[in-house]
Amino acid sequence: MAKRLLIVYYSGTGNTERMAEEIGRGAERLGVEVEVKRVEECSLEDLVEADGIVVGSPTYFSNVAWQVKKLIDESVVLYRKRRLKGKVGGCFTSSGTRRDGEDCLKMLEIAFGFHHGMRILPGVVRVSGDDEKKVSEMCQQYGAEIAKQLSNEP
Ligand SMILES: Cc1cc2nc3c(=O)[nH]c(=O)nc-3n(C[C@H](O)[C@H](O)[C@H](O)COP(=O)(O)O)c2cc1C
Repeated sequence: MAKRLLIVYYSGTGNTERMAEEIGRGAERLGVEVEVKRVEECSLEDLVEADGIVVGSPTYFSNVAWQVKKLIDESVVLYRKRRLKGKVGGCFTSSGTRRDGEDCLKMLEIAFGFHHGMRILPGVVRVSGDDEKKVSEMCQQYGAEIAKQLSNEP
C-alpha cells in the first residue's frame, strides 16, 4: 500500500503555500499518496494517521506563525502518548532572510524532532528574492527525499 504523506502549512501571502504544493509534487512522483492541508484544517488525528508529516510556516519574528504554534501546542496530547515517535518528517519556511528562516526551521525541528521523536530531514528555506524556478526545484527535490525515506520504511 502507498505510504501517506501529510504536508501541513500556514501561509499569509502564498509563498509557503507554493512550497507546500511543490514538495507534494516531488513526493507524488515517487508514488507516495500526498495530502496538502492548511494548518487550520488539520486535526490531531490527521497527524496520527499519516506515515510521514512535513510542516511549513512563514518565518514570523524568527519563529513559526501562531497558527502553526497552536497545532504544535495542541499536539502535546500526542506527545504524552508518543504517537508521532519514529515517523518520517520534514519542515520548510518562507522568510525574508536566510538567518531568520533557519531560526524558524530550528523551532520546527525542535518540536517535531527533539520532542516528538520524529525523524526529521533537515528543512528547506525560501528567501525573498530567490529565483522561483530554483525554489520549485529545491522543494520538489525535498519532497522526493522525504518520499524515499518513507519508501524505505517497512
Ligand atoms: C508578522 C510578520 C513577521 C515577519 N517576520 C520576519 C522575520 O522575523 N524575519 C524575516 O526574514 N522575515 C519576516 N517576515 C517576512 C516573511 O517571512 C516573508 O514575507 C514570507 O515569505 C511570508 O510567507 P507567506 O507568503 O507564506 O506568508 C515577516 C512577515 C510578517 C507578516
